[in-house]
Amino acid sequence: MYLDKEEEKMLESENETVSKAMELLVTLGKMFKAERLVKIKSAHISGISYDNIGDPGLEWIESLNARVSVPTTVNPAGMDLKKWKEMGIDERFYEKQIRILKALKNLGADLTLTCTPYYINRPSFGDHLAWAESSAVVYANSILGARTNREAGITSIAAAITGRTLYFGLHIKENRMPTVTVKAKGNLAAVGYIAGKELRGEIPYFIFEKKPSEWELKQLAASLAATGSVAMFHAEEITPEFRDFDVPKEIVEVEGKLEKECNADLIAIGCPHASKEELEEILKLIGDEKIKRELWIFTSRRIAEESIDLVRKLEKMGAKVYCDTCMVVSPASDRFKCVMVNSGKALHYIPERRKCEVAFSDLKNCIRIAKTP
Ligand code: F3S
Repeated sequence: MYLDKEEEKMLESENETVSKAMELLVTLGKMFKAERLVKIKSAHISGISYDNIGDPGLEWIESLNARVSVPTTVNPAGMDLKKWKEMGIDERFYEKQIRILKALKNLGADLTLTCTPYYINRPSFGDHLAWAESSAVVYANSILGARTNREAGITSIAAAITGRTLYFGLHIKENRMPTVTVKAKGNLAAVGYIAGKELRGEIPYFIFEKKPSEWELKQLAASLAATGSVAMFHAEEITPEFRDFDVPKEIVEVEGKLEKECNADLIAIGCPHASKEELEEILKLIGDEKIKRELWIFTSRRIAEESIDLVRKLEKMGAKVYCDTCMVVSPASDRFKCVMVNSGKALHYIPERRKCEVAFSDLKNCIRIAKTP
């Protein structure tokens, strides 16, 4: 694999963290037959909840001795940094999580603690990135036209330090060609959940019955990534590269219809983290009827701070707005019997990662249930 002078210098660096980071990229580069590396505009690190990585991950991150060389954001942690006690997180977990965050801060990462880094540091069309949150990868590739493969937590850290990632896969234009046409209608979180299972690893070209909102596309991205390891899609008349390729001849039809019921004692919204527009929509759906069950809304601290009036109104109606974390990566969900979500990604991962049952419905019905005693 070709390395330029700067890259060779990193490979031979006396700083072991830098040389190991470059060595990892070179080893993977040979494995994936990448010709070279590509400079990235930003990195996004995932898998930083203590719940996910435990003591081995914590000790590894603490052992790193370098600084990131590009703007680097970070995925949700295992708790809200301010309301962790209210969430039911114990002191031991809190302390371990804080150690992980301190180590990431020492690396120079921006502790955004969100899976929606694109609301904070929005990439431009054509930017090369090394992002490791699967839902954000689909969003960046599809909706923004930026270029990233699905990085792992560890490779995103190597990329953040070196400022490079492998030039292969979705960094190369011809690999972004759609492979199957999907005519879709109904709930897009459900469309992504169902289509992902059928179309593992494909690049769908969607034709929607009606124009979706931005957050519906975000839900679609997250579901496709979760059930199908999909890393990008095109959508007719919507996504920036849809005209760049021929429309695939193979057509499948997907109806986003999915209801999974249980008697929810927690309704959890905000997977991926809610935008300001979603917070507005939730408040509108609550109306003037108070919340009667636990309703947790997850968003980034940045969005919550920018939408402080909205957050106060939601809390006044009985909802709890949590930042820095989510229903999947936090052990806080474990004390509930059944968690109801409107997200295909949460529907997929809660049974795997948490101790509770999961139910699925659209946002409107989730809020209706939250208002029912
Ligand atoms: Fe984000 Fe957690 Fe969902 S990290 S995409 S809210 S599983």
